[in-house]
Amino acid sequence: MSSKVLIVDDEKLMRISLESQLKKEGYNVKSVDNALDGLKMVKSEEYDIVVTDLRLSGMSGMDFLKEIKKHNQEIIVVIMTAYGTLESAVSAIKEGAYDYIAKPFSTDELIIKLQRALYYKNTTAEVNRLRREIQSEFEFGNIIGKSEAMKKVLETVRSVSDREATVLIRGESGTGKEKIAGAIHYHSIRRNGSFIRVSCAALNREILESELFGHEKGAFTGAVKTRRGRFELANGGSIFLDDVDDIPLDMQVKLLRVLQERTFERVGGEETLSVDVRIICATKKDLLEHVKEGYFREDLFYRLNVVPINIPPLRERKEDIPLLINYFLKKFVSQYEDALPDVSQEVMDVLLAYNWPGNVRELENVIEHSVAFSKSKGISIETLPEYLRRVDIRTDLLSMDLSNKQEINLQDALTEVEKKLIQWAHQKTNGNQVKMAEILGIPRTTLRNRLIKLQLFEKVLS
Ligand SMILES: Nc1ncnc2c1ncn2[C@@H]1O[C@H](COP(=O)(O)OP(=O)(O)OP(=O)(O)O)[C@@H](O)[C@H]1O
Ligand SMILES: [Mg+2]
Repeated sequence: MSSKVLIVDDEKLMRISLESQLKKEGYNVKSVDNALDGLKMVKSEEYDIVVTDLRLSGMSGMDFLKEIKKHNQEIIVVIMTAYGTLESAVSAIKEGAYDYIAKPFSTDELIIKLQRALYYKNTTAEVNRLRREIQSEFEFGNIIGKSEAMKKVLETVRSVSDREATVLIRGESGTGKEKIAGAIHYHSIRRNGSFIRVSCAALNREILESELFGHEKGAFTGAVKTRRGRFELANGGSIFLDDVDDIPLDMQVKLLRVLQERTFERVGGEETLSVDVRIICATKKDLLEHVKEGYFREDLFYRLNVVPINIPPLRERKEDIPLLINYFLKKFVSQYEDALPDVSQEVMDVLLAYNWPGNVRELENVIEHSVAFSKSKGISIETLPEYLRRVDIRTDLLSMDLSNKQEINLQDALTEVEKKLIQWAHQKTNGNQVKMAEILGIPRTTLRNRLIKLQLFEKVLS
C-alpha cells in the first residue's frame, strides 16, 4: 500500500508541482493551502506524513504541528522553512516534528527525507508492536484458569504485583511459574525496567556466583574482562531466580545479604555495589523440606517466602483443561482460518483422563501437534501424538504420584478414581449409558445419579 502524504502550503505553484511529482513517485498525495483544512483532513483520514510550511495565513504551521501531535503522536511531520531560519526549524523539532527541509529544495531531496521518515515510522511501529506483544504475553488475561486453585493464584498475583514484596512461586515443571513471574513484573511499577531470569539449576558455585554478581577482570582464570552480573543488569527491574532450591549453601549466605541489604561485591572485587531490584523466585521442590534436611538455610527461606504462590499441577485442576485447549487452539490455528477446529468428545475424554506429568507445557505441545496434523477442520484422536492415542485410562488410574504428598483426602481421591472409571466406561461404550452401567456393574439410575453428582458429561445429560 502506498504511503499517504498531506502537503500544506499556501504557495499554489509549489503545492501543485510537489503534489504531482510525489504522485509520480507512487505516493498517495493530497494537498491544501491552509492549516485548518489540513487539520480536518488529518482527523478524518489516516496520513503517514504531513509536509507543511511554517508560514501560513490563519493557523500557523507551528500550531498546526502541535494539533497534529495532540491528535496522533505517530504521524510524521516534516517542516518546510521558507527562509532557512534555523531557529524556527529547531523549535518545530522540539515540538515533535521529525525533520525540516529548507526552501528551495529539489523533489529528490524531499523524497529522501520522506523515505527515511517512513522507514523510521515503520520500525518504531514494529518495536512498539513487539513490546506490546511481550507485555500481553504476561497479561492476567493470558493466564488461563477458572479452577478455585487458579483463581486464588491469580488473586495473589494481582494483589502482589504493585507491591515490592519478594515472591516464592512453587509448582511442578510446566505449571506456569515463569509466566506468573513475568506477569508480576509486567504489572508492577518496575514494568519499564528489565525482567532478568537466572536459572540456578545445576550451576556450580563459581559459575553461579559470577552469573549473579559478576566478576572483576582477572578474578579467576578466564576472567579476561570485567563482567556485570544479573543483579546489576536487573537494577530498576526484577530478577527471577528459577530453581532457587539448587543454590549451594555457601551462596545462600550471599543471597541472604542481597535480600537484607540489597548490596554485594563482584567476584574478585572490593567495591560494594547496591541494587534496587525486586526478587521473584521459583522452585519445583518443597523448600521447607529442604530446610528440614539441612540443604536450605532457614533464614533465607523465610526471606524468600514472604508471598508464597503455589501452582497446583494440572491433573489436580482438570476443569482448566478445556479452557486451556481453547486458548492454545487460538494460539496455534492460523489467523487466516475463520473458525477454531472442533475437538471431538473422544479427544476431550482422553485429554481429561490423562495424568499430565508435563502439566500446561505438555498440553500446549499436544495442541500444537494436533493443530499441525489436523488436515480437515477437527481435532480427532488421529491428530493426537502417538503416546496419547495409546493412553489407557485404567493404567493411568494406577499411576497416582504420591511421592510429594504430605496428606491425602480419601474422599476426594476416591471421587477422582470414580470419575476416571466412569470416563473409561464412557470411552469404551461411546457414551452409551446402558452399556456404561453394564460394564461398571451398577444400575442405570445409580450411574445417572453419579454423573449428575460428579458433573460429568454435561453434553450427554442435556
Ligand atoms: N495458566 C496458564 N495459561 C496459559 N498458558 C500457560 C499457563 N500456565 C502455563 N502456560 C504456558 O505453558 C508453558 C510453560 O509455562 P512456564 O514456562 O511458565 O512453566 P514453568 O513452571 O516455568 O516450567 P519449568 O518448571 O519447566 O521451568 C508456557 O508456554 C506458558 O505460556
Ligand atoms: Mg520455568
